[in-house]
Amino acid sequence: MIFTLIGFMGCGKSSVGKSLADALGWDFADSDALIEKGEKMKIPEIFSSLSETGFRKLEYSYISDTVSKYRKEGMNHLIFALGGGAPVYRPTAELISRQTCTIYFKCPVEELIDNLKTDGIENRPLLKGGNLESKVKGLLSERETVYSECASMTVHPYSLTPEMLKNRLR
Ligand code: S3P
Repeated sequence: MIFTLIGFMGCGKSSVGKSLADALGWDFADSDALIEKGEKMKIPEIFSSLSETGFRKLEYSYISDTVSKYRKEGMNHLIFALGGGAPVYRPTAELISRQTCTIYFKCPVEELIDNLKTDGIENRPLLKGGNLESKVKGLLSERETVYSECASMTVHPYSLTPEMLKNRLR
């Protein structure tokens, strides 16, 4: 089974996803890390050379390859943290809704802003320049419907337990 984690930047997809995978003995992958490794470039460099549209297509190809790999017989379960904008690209939204169990990590906007201030925005070109609070609020309101529509489960990241994931396997 593949569990994809979606949600806005700073909601904890990678950190919470990794600790859940460790607790369960499952595999963990992060789409941004796969892209950076594969392309040998940091996310902001990819955005500047391909633009956001080009990045979304590239992101789709990495997500699709990973999903195909883990759908094969005999693979371990996977927790797959996706970049916050991945479901905005319709082919990605369709792929993860049809072929994975998609979990939306929903956080209050104030919590996202606090986390982003702590984490930093170096790898998040869409948040650079201007006022962080208004950028987060604007983008989140554009994306919330897409996140909810893609998800088969919506939770606050800290309320998701290993047992809840194991129950989904039945
Ligand atoms: C993006 C989120 C980032 C990264 C890129 C674009 C977005 O990932 O993929 O900066 O559009 O929301 P995180 O959600 O892991 O920060």
